[in-house]
Amino acid sequence: MLRTVGKSLFVCPPHPSLELCPAVLFFSRPRCSGIPYVPQPRDKSVSARSVISFYNQSAIDIAAEKPSVRLTPTTILYAGKSPDNSHILRSAQYLYKELPVRVAHRIRDFRHLPFIVGCNPTILHVHELYIRSFHLLSEFPPVEDFESEEKYTKLVKDLLDDHKDVVTLLAEGFRESRKHIKEYKVIQDFLDRMLTSRLGIRMLAQHHIALHQEKNLFHAQPNYVGIICTQMSLKKIIEKWADFSRQVCEYKYGYAPRVRVLGHVGVVFPYIPLPLDYILPELLKNAMRATCEQHADNPVNMPDVTVTIANNDVDFIIRISDKGGGMPREILEKVMQYHFTTCGSEMDPASENLDGLGTMMSAMNDGPNGAGPMYGKRQQPKARNPDSEDSDSNGFGFGLPTSRAYAEYLGGSLTYNTMQGIGTDVYLRLRHIDGNYESFRI
Ligand SMILES: Nc1ncnc2c1ncn2[C@@H]1O[C@H](COP(=O)(O)OP(=O)(O)OP(=O)(O)O)[C@@H](O)[C@H]1O
Ligand SMILES: [Mg+2]
Repeated sequence: MLRTVGKSLFVCPPHPSLELCPAVLFFSRPRCSGIPYVPQPRDKSVSARSVISFYNQSAIDIAAEKPSVRLTPTTILYAGKSPDNSHILRSAQYLYKELPVRVAHRIRDFRHLPFIVGCNPTILHVHELYIRSFHLLSEFPPVEDFESEEKYTKLVKDLLDDHKDVVTLLAEGFRESRKHIKEYKVIQDFLDRMLTSRLGIRMLAQHHIALHQEKNLFHAQPNYVGIICTQMSLKKIIEKWADFSRQVCEYKYGYAPRVRVLGHVGVVFPYIPLPLDYILPELLKNAMRATCEQHADNPVNMPDVTVTIANNDVDFIIRISDKGGGMPREILEKVMQYHFTTCGSEMDPASENLDGLGTMMSAMNDGPNGAGPMYGKRQQPKARNPDSEDSDSNGFGFGLPTSRAYAEYLGGSLTYNTMQGIGTDVYLRLRHIDGNYESFRI
């Protein structure tokens, strides 16, 4: 169980020494977690520059003082087309200014972590990844023409790829160091900021990459401007993730509940599918796991999972209802905490056992015979949507807290009602990007 009493051991002031000391850089390779360290720099000149720039922290400090410029989805939607493709150049120039600032904010957050947590090799590795990204982004020459835009877009793509395991690494790093964490709130705030900022950065970066690819009409997706789907069907996206979750569930349990989609099933509106590609499978797999485990003795008559859509001028609501027996009273306060999971034998976030759906997802990711294409540290399920940018961090107790943080970032909420002995209703409420109230900013 996560102990939340008392104060953190101590919160050290910014400790640039962590970034300066070559020994720390060496030890920051995540050895304990068994993750092979992949050397990041792609050529020697970049490597040499990066090492030198570890000694030049003032650039990070200056960037970290600047406010981030957050745009509404409608702004990026209307700036997403031009007859001469100048919008692509403007998009790259915006990223060129904005990304180093956002990355510097995250580095500042790493420096403010409790010292003992910040020293964890896996967390240090992610910290180092951000420092390296900062230097690569801020040392890139200004984007002035399509030739430099092309190179800049390549850099952004490479960095997205370098960071794709960050959620898993943070989940592992904090699990390794949680025994030193006295004040859970410090970690919750850090992870909420880190994960939502990462979502924002990835949405902006993906948007630019999509605009860049749309130049070539062959790559243009119908009804899309960058990452914004101008006619998103909620029903279709729910069904896509229901199919995925059922495959995963069948792989583990041999059966899976059906999913019924009810309510405003015909609604279509402009939205960004990318965050839904993370949240929906998390909520559906929770509902399916509960249903399978509650009805293990009679899987043939397993009750359906019901998803109800409600749409209005301001927001849309997705309710996921299962008859999986609900959540026991004693875990109600904890289910939204990072690392709280009942996957495994104990109802304890300290459980090292990633059984249950966690193992189920990992097993699926590895494929039945451990075969399949590798994406970073873990393998992706065959049914995985390539649009989904989050690497797999299943069984860490990250599904609900991460989904709630994303929902709040998107101007919405994630809540639940549970009836012990019957089942659970989870409500995902999200603000329209073209609704009657101002939408969220990315
Ligand atoms: N629909 C549900 N019915 C019953 N219990 C649930 C439901 N959804 C979540 N829970 C409980 O809340 C815990 C935390 O859920 P969460 O999604 O955050 O983590 P997880 O599913 O255990 O692991 P992960 O999502 O990282 O794979 C679960 O382990 C489970 O005990
Ligand atoms: Mg989950």
